[in-house]
Amino acid sequence: MLRIAMLGTGFIARFYTEALHEKRSRDRVQVVYGRDTRHAKAFAEQHQIPRFSTSIAESVTADDVDAVIVGLPNHLHEAAVTAAAEAGKAVLCTKPLGRNAEEALRMLRTVEKAGVFHAYLEDLVYTPRTQKSLASVRAGAVGDVLWVRSRETHPGPHSDWFWNRKLSGGGAIVDMGCHCIEIARNFIGKDIRPAEVMCWADTLVHPIEAEDHAVGLVRYENGAIGQFEVSWAFRGGMDLRDEVSGTEGTIWLNHWLRTGFEMFSARGQSGYVAEKTESESGWMFPVGDEPVALGYVDMFADVLSAMEESRPPMEDFYDGYVVNAIVDAAYRSANSKHWETVRLPVWRGRNTTERVGTIREYDADHLLIKEEKMPDGSINVILRHKQTGRIIQQTK
Ligand SMILES: NC(=O)c1ccc[n+]([C@@H]2O[C@H](COP(=O)([O-])OP(=O)(O)OC[C@H]3O[C@@H](n4cnc5c(N)ncnc54)[C@H](O)[C@@H]3O)[C@@H](O)[C@H]2O)c1
Repeated sequence: MLRIAMLGTGFIARFYTEALHEKRSRDRVQVVYGRDTRHAKAFAEQHQIPRFSTSIAESVTADDVDAVIVGLPNHLHEAAVTAAAEAGKAVLCTKPLGRNAEEALRMLRTVEKAGVFHAYLEDLVYTPRTQKSLASVRAGAVGDVLWVRSRETHPGPHSDWFWNRKLSGGGAIVDMGCHCIEIARNFIGKDIRPAEVMCWADTLVHPIEAEDHAVGLVRYENGAIGQFEVSWAFRGGMDLRDEVSGTEGTIWLNHWLRTGFEMFSARGQSGYVAEKTESESGWMFPVGDEPVALGYVDMFADVLSAMEESRPPMEDFYDGYVVNAIVDAAYRSANSKHWETVRLPVWRGRNTTERVGTIREYDADHLLIKEEKMPDGSINVILRHKQTGRIIQQTK
């Protein structure tokens, strides 16, 4: 059993606590920190948490706490991480790790200097279907991964601080692009260096300084592309989809809307349907078990087991820092309208990589470009001559 100090009583703290206390789990939130006594007390009562506190210092230094979870707004992550590390406690931080890579790198150095266990809580790489897809990709089922497209769009976040660029670090890119970037990194290979980013971002709908839309391309050293698509103005709920394209296969993942559970109610059920759902009647797309579908339950299973087994979790602060560095390059590119290098003063992956893609020999003189069965049953074979480069077509 591990005992946890939960910092925050908001949206993510509730999801995390539900995931930690799921079913017959032995792990327990021991103390919850909230800046507001009334909220903190109510949160503790609702989730059967023995104590609440309005002091971060008191919560993270408690003797009966093994690990601290940071579920606070982005501008408070660094101070909370520092307090937990100085208290010698394991520290688990929500996404994004920092508002930028500089902040994230400082946090990485802080936990490493203190020698404490650290985990980056990127839940979306832990969804059961993502885990299964990753296992298939690593077993070679789709060949070389060429292109990963990850989309996260919804009608916009639920609290004021997200919309304030100074507090959040940016708009939809840092808030949701961070998920998409890390999903792509997992499929492409976390040891492959992200080289450069090209990004379009704009504020199309909301009266804010930060972007509410963006599309970005992250080019990796091996030629693979990670594409992120984010919006804070998508209507109709939350759209979470990933696509993996490889030389030998394809994976399509749909995590939230129309995943096989569809319900119509003329009367409506007058209550919460699923995260960011916009309608409570008519056709609805409920989610069976949200903490499981979003990866929270499997994430804590990995992270807390890693802590007990003294091994690194699947995602740690180093990953959070790499994600922040890619996000920073995306912001620079959105401004410059050019490809921008991903600046990684600390890089722990491979320095040289072979290019993705395989060239297939057809015969002694030709390389195969394409083979296709036509409607009349014949097979068109398109070849390139090795010496001359001439492209020819043969019909079999
Ligand atoms: N899928 C995910 O991993 C996921 C989803 C949502 C949010 N998050 C992350 O979780 C963090 C919190 O987001 P949220 O959605 O829970 O936000 P929220 O606004 O719902 O909750 C924030 C909590 O912090 C407290 N707080 C706000 N300002 C504070 C201040 N100045 N001092 C002390 N406490 C303060 C609030 O009272 C509340 O308890 C963010 O970093 C966000 O990016 C992650």
